[in-house]
Amino acid sequence: MTEEKKRKSSVRKRADEIKGDRCKNLIAVIEDPSDIRNIGTVIRNVNALGVEKVYVIDPRSALPDDWQEMRRTKALNQTSVSAIKWSFVKRFGSTEDCIAHLEKNRFVSIVTSPHVKGRNNGVLDEIDFTEWYKLAVWFGNESRGISDTAIANSILCISIPMFGMIESFNLATTSGIVLYEVTKQRREYQRKYRKRNKRVPVDDA
Ligand SMILES: C[S@@+](CC[C@H](N)C(=O)[O-])C[C@H]1O[C@@H](n2cnc3c(N)ncnc32)[C@H](O)[C@@H]1O
Repeated sequence: MTEEKKRKSSVRKRADEIKGDRCKNLIAVIEDPSDIRNIGTVIRNVNALGVEKVYVIDPRSALPDDWQEMRRTKALNQTSVSAIKWSFVKRFGSTEDCIAHLEKNRFVSIVTSPHVKGRNNGVLDEIDFTEWYKLAVWFGNESRGISDTAIANSILCISIPMFGMIESFNLATTSGIVLYEVTKQRREYQRKYRKRNKRVPVDDA
């Protein structure tokens, strides 16, 4: 086997190994990011933590519409360290379009903000993220934060407590911290559920 073939087969093997640990029905939404490099770093986190998909609200058309084309975008490839090749990314032209798509597919939205926003607020590690079967977790713009439209269409706003002089984390850090907690909980739940389902025929026998 040539070196290239060996490399491809080990990449394929790894992709098969991690398939079962990917968090099903979990989407990270990045709302109107100003800097394409931040999209890449969030995609990197999404891939590393096993989030199923990324939706990007991109009113300035910084991204191509098609995922295959995105995979060839140099800036995304570099900042995501090629994670874009392995994580499905969908682009929307507006927050409203993204909300309509999520609602049509029965996803529940949760937004993130360093500030108290909307009617229901919670602290990251006090929330049970397995409560919703289909979940979209939103991250806001680098300077403006999350939009009023996204807040109005979400059931909860979560924050990571801040103890310093600065107001907020950056997008990469926030998505890493928030998605770590969300995927940890949902993966544990998925594993338990899978085991229980596997046991049923054995117990019944
Ligand atoms: C740089 S922050 C935006 C700061 C902006 N001035 C604001 O009011 O939200 C970019 C995004 O990161 C997330 N974020 C940053 N710090 C956070 C925190 N402490 N808790 C929850 N989300 C946070 C939010 O999604 C926010 O929209």
